[in-house]
Amino acid sequence: KFEEQQILLGGIKDYMQEIRRCRRLLFIACGTSYHSAIATRQLLEELTELPVMVDLASDFLDRSTPVFRDDVCFFISQSGETADTLLALRYCKQHGALIVGVTNTVGSTICRESHCGVHINAGPEIGVASTKAYTSQFISLVMFGLMMSEDRISKQARRREIIEGLKQLPDQIKEVLEMDDQINALARELYQQDSFLVMGRGYNYATCLEGALKIKELTYMHSEGILAGELKHGPLALIDKKMPVMMIVTRDPVFRKCWNALEQVKARKGDPIVICTKGDTETIEKASTALQVPPCVDALQGILTVIPLQLLSMHIATLKGCDVDCPRNLAKSVTVE
Ligand code: M6R
Repeated sequence: KFEEQQILLGGIKDYMQEIRRCRRLLFIACGTSYHSAIATRQLLEELTELPVMVDLASDFLDRSTPVFRDDVCFFISQSGETADTLLALRYCKQHGALIVGVTNTVGSTICRESHCGVHINAGPEIGVASTKAYTSQFISLVMFGLMMSEDRISKQARRREIIEGLKQLPDQIKEVLEMDDQINALARELYQQDSFLVMGRGYNYATCLEGALKIKELTYMHSEGILAGELKHGPLALIDKKMPVMMIVTRDPVFRKCWNALEQVKARKGDPIVICTKGDTETIEKASTALQVPPCVDALQGILTVIPLQLLSMHIATLKGCDVDCPRNLAKSVTVE
């Protein structure tokens, strides 16, 4: 209920006491679902003040990661059938942790084997590339953070800001979708390239990973999501005037740091396309192409910045004659390890 600043996830409400008492939150998933946990980790750390671990299911199992009875383990999966995620779930269950499933498929194996859970209710996702499930997983995890912090006086102002931000999101998403023609034109400039780098940091790092995954999955183009803070530690060597780069430089707490990265890239003759906050003339003037997203609360920005990359990958794929719904070599549900 927006007016009462009340958030209720019915599938976990009876377990909230236990979850609030835990000593660590673990988020385990594969691919896009993993990115939704990366996208919300910072906010979950802020709102819960608990250690938050985010892991890829396959790696989590390879490491035989220590898990304890007072851990709460979230398994995020659109299909609810991903083998690696399911095996990690069973491993954590054997170690006595509380298991929370975050799925889009009611009655799926992950649903059934969890102690409690959240249905993200994104509606059936048919295309192999996950899009609406990502944004819905993102919102569900934000809502979980809001539930966790509802009794904390010190978090009330932040909660109000985020709840207000959630209220504005549907209109802001519509506004971003209206950029489709501009993004299609950009796709025409890019579709014959071999490579595409996506850089950003803070709340937008997940958008870089997820955007690059969408580009490679749909267009078969090499694409990398790069944490802008790591630029000087290697990726800067890739930059020259021919390398296509997109940089996410929105008005948030890491804006100046992103700006520095933008200048580093420009100093190496790079000509990055930027995703920036609407009306930010300082940044718009720096780039030959600027995709302007509406200003929104920092922790929710990733919802708005990922959409241009989802659209871009679709348009590039179409121009290249790739099958947008069923990319080669991939399956919607990965039921093998
Ligand atoms: O069904 P799941 O969310 O468990 O699937 C995990 C990944 O296989 C999936 O997100 C994959 O990365 C997508 N096809 C990416 O678009």
